[in-house]
This record gives sequence, structure tokens and C-alpha cells, in this order.
Amino acid sequence: MSQYQAVKGTKDIFPEEVAQWKYVEGIVHTLASLYGFSEIRTPVFEYTELFQRGIGLTTDIVGKEMFSFQPDTKGRSVTLRPEMTAGVMRAALQYNLFSLAPVHKLYYIGELFRKERPQAGRQRQFSQFGAELLGVSSPAAVAEVITLMMQVFESLGLKELKLRINTLGDTEDRVRYREALQSYFVPFYEILDEASRERLEKNPLRILDSKNPVLQELVAGAPRLYDYLNDSSLRDFEKVLFYLAERNIAYDIDHRLVRGLDYYSHTAFEVTSSVLGAQDAIGGGGRYDGLARELGSSSDVPASGFAVGMERLLITMEKQGLLTTINPLRPLVYVVVQQQELVDHALTIAWRLRKAGIRTEIDLVARSMKSQMREANRIRASYALFIGKTEYTTGSYALKNLLTSEQTTLSLEDVLQVLHQPATKERINL
Ligand code: HAM
Repeated sequence: MSQYQAVKGTKDIFPEEVAQWKYVEGIVHTLASLYGFSEIRTPVFEYTELFQRGIGLTTDIVGKEMFSFQPDTKGRSVTLRPEMTAGVMRAALQYNLFSLAPVHKLYYIGELFRKERPQAGRQRQFSQFGAELLGVSSPAAVAEVITLMMQVFESLGLKELKLRINTLGDTEDRVRYREALQSYFVPFYEILDEASRERLEKNPLRILDSKNPVLQELVAGAPRLYDYLNDSSLRDFEKVLFYLAERNIAYDIDHRLVRGLDYYSHTAFEVTSSVLGAQDAIGGGGRYDGLARELGSSSDVPASGFAVGMERLLITMEKQGLLTTINPLRPLVYVVVQQQELVDHALTIAWRLRKAGIRTEIDLVARSMKSQMREANRIRASYALFIGKTEYTTGSYALKNLLTSEQTTLSLEDVLQVLHQPATKERINL
């Protein structure tokens, strides 16, 4: 055993699980491209200010969860990305993508870092896939990203997910609401905890996020943003709901949903999974029309998007029995060395098979023939190819189908032919 362990809040992903990840990623790639999104890969760290400006100084993420460091003595502080949206928008603005086309549809799969207290479904390094629709702001656009997200869940066979949706209105709506919230909370100043007192001044909306049980009743009685929306914001929200209903996407309106990032306006949404326990949010997103200006853009870049936590998605799939049929790709043929003096010849045969595109495994630790056969079965190879003295001298090899136990003697060319047959004989997905 090593004296080192993985850092708290991080996880190793072993081959069986990697196969599951790849399966999910494959569906993400297929569906994202079906909806016209192209993949973007942005750096894992960015200047700290990007997240401070983008996500908001008073959020938990920026206030307590960022892994920030100085790359050199004179350098500006940088931060391991805690989310993808700010980086994607930064890239689009930096490379002036909007001079090429007004709308850009980008998706991603990548690692994120948040200094949260690790627990089931909550890690310090985790992964998300997500999509950002940049350059247009409309109910149709936000409905498009929600629909893509829900279609991924549906394709994976997930059940019993709950989509909660809310509208945060436009900037003026929120200014009026902010004042209303301040007037509501000020008389209760003595009851408020330290964090909420700070938020009262700077960003009272964040008090609604508080997990402090003492404040729950107070928060429940707070005014609703919904009552401060102007007609156009209301119509906008209704149109989003109309699109969802058209597509048979079930939702619950939740007027308390504010989400943990400051960049949202109008629609915000979150998907929860009933099998997840305390950390039940599997994905979320919304519209963020003000982010580009916040990052210094001289023109508006309205946008919307979502992100889904890969680990929580996979936990949900596992609990719902959806991962049992996904296995890593197994070798098709196991080259069995009958006499150790032929091992070099066997290695050459294995190399020729692999060059011909056939998945091949061969023993490298001089095991007995019996052990090699046991190993071939353990890793569920479909065929065993025997290399013995006769084979070596005649150039004909015994090929055994390990499913049917049928054995034939063939030249290497014929072996290649047989192994190139359609994959129906393989054991990989049984
Ligand atoms: P978020 O709600 O902060 O949104 O994260 C999205 C998802 O990432 C969560 O629902 C959860 O599944 C997963 N997640 C977050 N933190 C952790 C963690 N510590 N461990 C494991 N999983 C976690 C965003 O990140 C926004 N950028 C979404 C977005 C895209 N909005 C617009 N576009």
C-alpha cells in the first residue's frame, strides 16, 4: 500500500467506471451536436477576477470555495475554475466570436474545483457537462437549452427527476425586489446570522439561499420576486413554460429558486434527483444576459445555458440500475503461449493482430497455459489463439471460440478473416 492517498474530495476513476463515463459522454456529444452545439475546451484556471466579477463577490462559491493561488511573485491571482460559464463567455469575448456570427452554441465536458466540505455527491474536484447558447436572449433560446438537458436525461433512461423553474425578472424588477427584501429583513436584523447581515447590505437575494435552520421561517415569509415582475418579464416566463409544455417536459414553478450564482436574469432552473440525498441537485442553469457586460464587454451578449454534475448523474444512474449493462471493451482474442520458448513468436503474432485492428491480449508474466486460459476467461476474451511448436512450424494456428468451445486450425490470414467478422460473436456486452 502506498503511504499516499488521493486528496480529500477527489476520486480515482477506474476502468469499469471510465466505461460508464464514456457512455454518458458519448450521449452528450451526440445530442449536443444534434442540437447544433459545438464543443469548446477552456483552460482549467483563469484570473481570479473573472470569477469574482462573473459569479459575484457575495456568492458562496467566490466567498469561500475557490482554490486561488499566485502563479509567480508578481503574477495576478488565478483560480481553478469553479464553473464553466464565465470561462466560456470570456473566451467568446476575447476572440471576438460575435464579429463572425451573432449566435454561438457551445458545449463542454470538464473538471471543476470547489473547496466545499466533501460528502456523498459533493467533491472538491468534480465534472460537469453543459451547454451555453450565446448571443441571443429569448424564451425560445432558454427552452432550447432546457430541452437539450432533459433529452440527455431521457436518453440515459433516468427516472423521477424534478425540474424546478423560476424567473428572476429583469434588472429593474430585481432593483425593486431588492429594496422590498431589505425593508422586510431590516426589522429582523438581530435574528440574522453574520453572513446574512453582510448580504442584507450587498445582496439581499442571497439571504434566500441561507441553509441556516433558524432563518428558514423568516425566509419563507419574505416577499416573492414574482410579485415584483413587470408585464414583459411575466410574458417572457409564460412563453418559456409554453415551450416546455409543448415538449411534454414536466416542471414545478418554485418562486424561491434563486440559484447560487449572481449572473442569472429571467429564467433560472434546477433539476433534482430523489435518489441523491442531501446534495440532490443534478443540474441547473438559466439565462444570464448581464454577464458579458460584467466582464467588460461594450455590447450586450444575452445568453443562457445549463450544467449537469457528472458524478451526481452517474450516482443517480447507478441507484436506478442503469449502469449494469455498460462494460469496458474486452479483448477479442487472447494469444495463449504453449511453450515459453515461443513467447517472442507469440508477441509478434499479437502485434500483427493488433496492427490488423483486432483487440488482442497476451500474457507478459510467463504464466502456465492453464493460468493463461483462466485469465482469458476472467477478462472475458471471445477467442483463444494457441501458439505451440506445431503452429510455429506449420504456420497454422488453433483458434478456439470461448463461447461455443469450437476449435479450428487456420492460417494466420484465415484467423484475421474470422476475427474480422461482425461483432455478434463478441462477449463484450453480454
Ligand atoms: P451549478 O448549479 O453551480 O451551476 O452547478 C451545476 C451542477 O454541478 C450541480 O447541479 C451539481 O450537479 C454539480 N456540482 C456543483 N458543485 C458540485 C460539487 N462540489 N461536487 C459535485 N458536483 C457538483 C453552474 O455551475 C452553472 N455554471 C450552470 C450554468 C451554465 N448556468 C448557465 N450556464
